[in-house]
Amino acid sequence: MSLPPSHPAIDVHKHTGMGCPVVGKGHEWCPSQPDDSRSPCPALNTLANHGYIARDGKNLSVFDLVSGLKACYNLSTPLAIFLSIGGFVLLRRFWNTDLHDIGRHGRIEHDASLVHRDTPEGEKYAPIDISDRLVDQLIVDAKTGDEEGEGPEAGDRRTLMDASDVARARVRREKESPPLGAKHAEIARGEMAIILGVWETKAGSNVGVPVEWMREWIGHERLPKDWKPTHIQGLLDVVKRAKSIRKAMDEQRKAEAAVVDEKAKH
Ligand code: HEM
Repeated sequence: MSLPPSHPAIDVHKHTGMGCPVVGKGHEWCPSQPDDSRSPCPALNTLANHGYIARDGKNLSVFDLVSGLKACYNLSTPLAIFLSIGGFVLLRRFWNTDLHDIGRHGRIEHDASLVHRDTPEGEKYAPIDISDRLVDQLIVDAKTGDEEGEGPEAGDRRTLMDASDVARARVRREKESPPLGAKHAEIARGEMAIILGVWETKAGSNVGVPVEWMREWIGHERLPKDWKPTHIQGLLDVVKRAKSIRKAMDEQRKAEAAVVDEKAKH
């Protein structure tokens, strides 16, 4: 993770507990320090960077994750429990964990991530460094229009990311990687479905997540400055959003196949 361009440099220091010797005991952002543990999950790393869980990302219990997810993202108790207990079960961990262990390849972690490279052959853990190139491509996908009045012809006014934008990015990444099994494909859609729900915002007749919030979070693991929780994010809403992403992915693949068929005819 890098410092956002506007951020002053921070000298190396040690994190213990939820406080930070530089930014104090509140929820100010501080990036991970060399001794800290981090995962390929932007949501969990952000919890640690803002002190909603131990800032060093170590020795976390399932209860730490539940209370951190609720306090930071305003998730409902059932959703926070589902993600945290479900996560521990998939990881086959029944005791505390460090964030790094969460990135064990093939458990929850999968290839075709939106902003991380695939796990190299023979490695046990996924890369946690964020690819700036992949972040830029995700933002391009978000700014590509599929509704009237959107797209490059609308200049840079296309500012909201929705399920069809996520679908565009997922279809692209899944073409670039080895095939994902059904479980990991579902997890990949669910990860983005949660955050589309947490940050959903209206601009005129459009609804979605401000693209710059997404860049700040997925690219720097930092909460968007002007976000204030507006609602409690529930589990059923996430399920609905994951279905919309899946439907949009199917439609996009069909449209791409039709173009290939049409070309083959000529
Ligand atoms: C607010 C709740 C959460 C949100 C919004 C969220 C979101 C995300 C997103 C968007 C990614 C994809 C990053 C990428 O594609 O490069 C991701 C990855 C991941 N998340 Fe989370 N997550 C949440 C909670 C959790 C929990 C509770 C766990 C486990 C206990 C977890 C474990 C992971 C793992 C292992 C990955 C890596 C998957 C991959 O290979 O891309 N996440 N998460």
